[in-house]
Amino acid sequence: MSDEGIAKVFPPREEHRKGVPIKSEEEYKRIYDESIKDPEAFWAKMADRIEWFSKDWDSVLEYDEKDVRISWFKGGKLNITHNCIDRHVNNGRKNQAAIIWQGEEDDDVKVYTYGQLLYEVSRVANMLKAKGVGKGDRVSIYLPMIPELAFAVLACARIGAIHSVVFGGFSSDALYNRITDCDSKVLITSDGGFRGGKAIDLKGKANEALEAGTTVETVIVVRRTGADVVMEEGRDFWYHELLADAEPQCEPEVMDAEDPLFILYTSGSTGKPKGVLHTCGGYNLYTTVTFEHIFGYQPGEVYWCTADIGWITGHSYILYGPLSAGATTVMFEGVPNYPQPDRFWQVAEKWKVNVFYTAPTAVRMMRKTGDDWIKMHDLSSLRLLGSVGEPIDPEAWYWYYDVVGGQRCPVVDTWWQTETGGIMISPLPGATNLKPGCATKPFFGIEPLTIREDRSECDVGENGRLVIKRPWPSIMRTLWGDHERFKDTYWNVYPGYYFTGDGGRIDEDGDVWILGRVDDVMSVAGHRIGAAEVEAALIGHPAVAEAAVVPVPDEIKGEAIYVFVNLKDGYEGSDELRKELVAQVRHDVGPIATPKIIQFAQGLPKTRSGKIMRRILRKIAGGGMHEDLGDVSTLADPDVVDQLIAGRIS
Ligand code: WTA
Repeated sequence: MSDEGIAKVFPPREEHRKGVPIKSEEEYKRIYDESIKDPEAFWAKMADRIEWFSKDWDSVLEYDEKDVRISWFKGGKLNITHNCIDRHVNNGRKNQAAIIWQGEEDDDVKVYTYGQLLYEVSRVANMLKAKGVGKGDRVSIYLPMIPELAFAVLACARIGAIHSVVFGGFSSDALYNRITDCDSKVLITSDGGFRGGKAIDLKGKANEALEAGTTVETVIVVRRTGADVVMEEGRDFWYHELLADAEPQCEPEVMDAEDPLFILYTSGSTGKPKGVLHTCGGYNLYTTVTFEHIFGYQPGEVYWCTADIGWITGHSYILYGPLSAGATTVMFEGVPNYPQPDRFWQVAEKWKVNVFYTAPTAVRMMRKTGDDWIKMHDLSSLRLLGSVGEPIDPEAWYWYYDVVGGQRCPVVDTWWQTETGGIMISPLPGATNLKPGCATKPFFGIEPLTIREDRSECDVGENGRLVIKRPWPSIMRTLWGDHERFKDTYWNVYPGYYFTGDGGRIDEDGDVWILGRVDDVMSVAGHRIGAAEVEAALIGHPAVAEAAVVPVPDEIKGEAIYVFVNLKDGYEGSDELRKELVAQVRHDVGPIATPKIIQFAQGLPKTRSGKIMRRILRKIAGGGMHEDLGDVSTLADPDVVDQLIAGRIS
């Protein structure tokens, strides 16, 4: 179906208003205006959505604009796991399912009630304490999507240790960098994991990561695959053995609202990943309130977010947000297409999922495999569909709405980032007019703006850079160990604003359209990958003199990785070498960063000061001809452009 064939606006229907907090556009507008007029009063009122050990905060918000020091509810005391677990146990939800864990094999299932979750998390917390982990210590977690991952994360939060989850698809090098950057004391990993019917190795990679010497004193290893693994005497311990001695009671540590909760590494425009730091109070509050409003979760419903806990979406909307709101959250170990292309729908049907939250990549992939795989399942339990991680094109949006949601379910296209902690721009079911491909309205307290290069405000409908006017409760507080980079990347680009790195456009209805990254960060199958990280890996190969990496549009993955390499003298481009380069990237970064195309080049377009012009390479990779490239006269060697166009691989 062409773009023109899809309705432009889908107003909320009567049934979408049932049971959700905000029931009309007017109500949204009224509360939104209030929240912008006096954000502190708004958030102080909202603070009652969670429980505090003490609400005696010094002030709701302190914001030192010059040094970008931000604190919310400082002096207030809480523990996020009290909100995610204990308060539900105390309030009659002890026997309600908190986590439904669905393993890759269909009969591999575990359901944990809130009562059982308290038991499990408390034991793991005591196990960590017994290994000397205390408040403020860093714990790296490198696990597949198994229940122990959830327990480990929550156990850290319970004792005030700072967790740093490293996605299982990252390589040993990436793990090493993430361990050494924050000086982790403990690493929690497993013998391996299952993915698409195959066992993958994690312990081997963990061993490799630790080989060079790190601050890690203890490695705790979960048994998952039963694979033979090398355990180092004195350093490595089996999780189940340590757990046998752990007591099931563990009082939650009293945390200040501004104590660190976790670090999560994300890609930026240099090769070094950024350790985004979130703190306890504002993050707990914001993820809870956004979860309640955007998904309109209702008691008894089953909520499923298909992300991996290794990414921010899993942190905020598999674990913390849903659990704090007392939801039943599904944690899925598998992949969308194993054992068959209908796996998601079979799981949704089996657990009678009401709210389903996934990435456009998955939507496009399933659209391609055909509607029959969906139609064979009863998906009538679905009430709401969500999308996150990359722009969703109107056609994929409409297919999701039509075929998956049976035209009953609102689709919430939620825009946010690792740095923002929670959803920033999204429709509210029951209040917002949906527009396919549009993230629509800012959440309460969030004021987005599109600006030009010179910082002036864009006109209605004009493409610009997306910035946010002032801090909100779940904004990152700093980059671990690098406050200057935090200021330079996010706050000094357009002084006075938080710069998102995304382009955007605001239309005549005040709806925000996200246009994708304007920096050198790519989104491959919804995974955020820095061009510079891939380039650094390529340059590590002895044949490579220089490399430039750009995204090209990809039908399923949204973007794929296109590589230009200039070889050192004495090396010839060949398929063999291509294979080696791919292996190098997979080794240094991980399989998620596998290049799709490698073009050998005689030279790369550079400014006279030597800066590689990725803007031009992006256009060439995408099929652009000389006349599409804009002004190339400032290049040190303009001829290189024609050679690159001639050598383009499609
Ligand atoms: C992109 C994921 C368009 C965006 C939660 C952002 C989106 C980056 C959307 C952050 C959306 C996320 N529409 N683009 N609904 N959601 N993005 O840190 O470019 O992994 O800057 O956080 O994903 O990726 P991250």
